Amino acid sequence: MKPLTTKLVTLGIVGLFFSFSGIIMCFFWPHVFYKILSNELPLTPRSRIFEIWKDTNEIPMNMEFYFFNWTNPEELKIPGKKPNFIEVGPYTFKEKIEKVNIVFHPENNTVSFDQRKFWYFDPEKSNGKLSDKIVHLNVVAVSAAHKVRYWSFFMQNSLSFMLDKLSGIHIVKTVDELLFTGYEDPLITMGQMAVDDGEEIPPYDRFGWFYLRNGSTMFDGHYNMATGEDNLNNLGVMKNWNYKDTTSYYKTPCNVVEGSAGEFWPPNRDAKEITIWTADLCRPVTYEYTGTVMHKGILGYQYAIGEKTLGNSTKRHYPHDQAKYFERTTTTEDFFDAKHSTTESNENIDDPDTINMGQCYCNGECSPMGVINITACRYGAPGFVSLPHFYKADPILREQVTGMKPNETKHSFYITLEPNTGVPLDVAARFQINILVQPSLSVALFRDVPKIYFPIFWFNLKSGTTENLAWSLRQLLIVPSAGLYGSVILAIVGAIIVIIIAVAIYVRKGPKKLILARRKVGAFNGKKSEAVYMDTTITDDEHDRSSPSLQLKIQTRNS
Ligand SMILES: *[C@@H]1O[C@H](CO)[C@@H](O)[C@H](O)[C@H]1NC(C)=O
Ligand SMILES: *[C@@H]1O[C@H](CO)[C@@H](O)[C@H](O)[C@H]1NC(C)=O
Ligand SMILES: *[C@@H]1O[C@H](CO)[C@@H](O)[C@H](O)[C@H]1NC(C)=O
Ligand SMILES: *[C@@H]1O[C@H](CO)[C@@H](O)[C@H](O)[C@H]1NC(C)=O
Ligand SMILES: *[C@@H]1O[C@H](CO)[C@@H](O)[C@H](O)[C@H]1NC(C)=O
Repeated sequence: MKPLTTKLVTLGIVGLFFSFSGIIMCFFWPHVFYKILSNELPLTPRSRIFEIWKDTNEIPMNMEFYFFNWTNPEELKIPGKKPNFIEVGPYTFKEKIEKVNIVFHPENNTVSFDQRKFWYFDPEKSNGKLSDKIVHLNVVAVSAAHKVRYWSFFMQNSLSFMLDKLSGIHIVKTVDELLFTGYEDPLITMGQMAVDDGEEIPPYDRFGWFYLRNGSTMFDGHYNMATGEDNLNNLGVMKNWNYKDTTSYYKTPCNVVEGSAGEFWPPNRDAKEITIWTADLCRPVTYEYTGTVMHKGILGYQYAIGEKTLGNSTKRHYPHDQAKYFERTTTTEDFFDAKHSTTESNENIDDPDTINMGQCYCNGECSPMGVINITACRYGAPGFVSLPHFYKADPILREQVTGMKPNETKHSFYITLEPNTGVPLDVAARFQINILVQPSLSVALFRDVPKIYFPIFWFNLKSGTTENLAWSLRQLLIVPSAGLYGSVILAIVGAIIVIIIAVAIYVRKGPKKLILARRKVGAFNGKKSEAVYMDTTITDDEHDRSSPSLQLKIQTRNS
């Protein structure tokens, strides 16, 4: 073979190689990206995210409290009058979460930890002072009356007497007392003395919604969470809460500990739903996909609390392998059969694995759509959680009172995740705390009250990625498209080289024919074209690397 042809063939092979690697890369690049994620995403003591997770000080998190100032407590027992509320606030605190007692378990790829939260008042971002006075339902009295419902007549009477002497239906306290410092109430002391055997009682000597919570590990429970090291699909998934994979607060299978612990999600999110274990409610909460949004220049999937969580008869399909969580006395088939027969009427009974969640979340009575009963999770106090201003709730709830103005942008509870990596971009955690007030036969203070889900306060915990994290994320997200474009370009460049070589070899065999042909075409167009192929290596030094081995020049001149 002549040296020139050898060169051309070598080049041709290089071109083919480029093309093939481009095509192969096109197919394998997603795996390469996944490999990068497998290195970056799991939580280990060495991973970049570890320090931020351990102490969220760097992440901007603001907790805004809004209270409902009750303007007409004296009218509660007057028929036809509704409680009226004026929203006051926000009282804004910077929140910081610290993980403590962190123990990694490499044997089962989980990490155990406790968490404690700190709140720091931020007067600049607040609309009001901590010393502002709020007219507030007497929650201690309502809880006491609720608790003694099944006590003896004598006990109920003594409570009734005490309440008449000591309390009214409302109290006036400062924001600080209602939240963190708490206030004393003789009923609390009495309640602590008169506990039933074995009953869980709150460790409080004062009442305040966040009393003792600042800096304490006592409130969120003990977490055991998968780190995703073995399998990214497990990343951030709750395994055990308080050392168990079920709780005692709801009936099976609603008592299963499941969902994300709230900070990590496996990559490749779909446009359906996500579930988060929510310690404050002692249950998982489902967020449904609502659309895509841009946040800090990154496209995200937004998920919000909706009907699946707020409804009182949500159906859910359980895979058979989750049968381990069902009542021990029944097999899977028995369980489904049992549910099957109780949900006959109008429901879709084709699928025996689908159960009505209302049957396990309504412990006893069901609440209307939009309020979640957390009585069992709150030492028997009749607490109910909803979205602020009863947003997405049964209209009955806001018609019982005046002053509720539900609004999508202000009151929805949403989470935005970057779908490829599962990294949270933007979170607005918003819940309203309500207390169920109901008439009581034996406690005089509550004899003639209407049954009302009483709005007390709501909070808005906003957090999201820092600029730094967003920047890293944007770089990481370039990788898949860069890989794709890179491989396509490589394939095209390879193909062009191969074509040029093919043409060049052809030209070497019959260049005159080609030039002739071109001249003809040129004449035909009324233009004079001249294709000049200059193979510089023919005359140039073989080893002159600076000169291109092949130049293709087409000169076109007007005739
Ligand atoms: C919470 O505790 C921290 C540190 O102990 C303290 O600086 C902060 O003021 C406390 N916040 C409230 C609202 O009491
Ligand atoms: C709440 O209402 C009471 C009585 O109407 C009033 O004195 C108090 O200033 C109000 N609080 C705020 C923060 O506006
Ligand atoms: C993993 O192992 C640790 C230590 O033995 C244990 O505490 C934890 O509950 C285990 N988690 C799971 C999901 O098995
Ligand atoms: C709320 O839950 C408690 C305890 O689980 C139950 O006794 C009560 O009937 C429920 N109330 C409503 C209104 O759903
Ligand atoms: C469930 O919610 C709906 C809508 O709020 C309400 O009409 C219904 O009474 C509730 N179901 C039960 C069993 O309470």
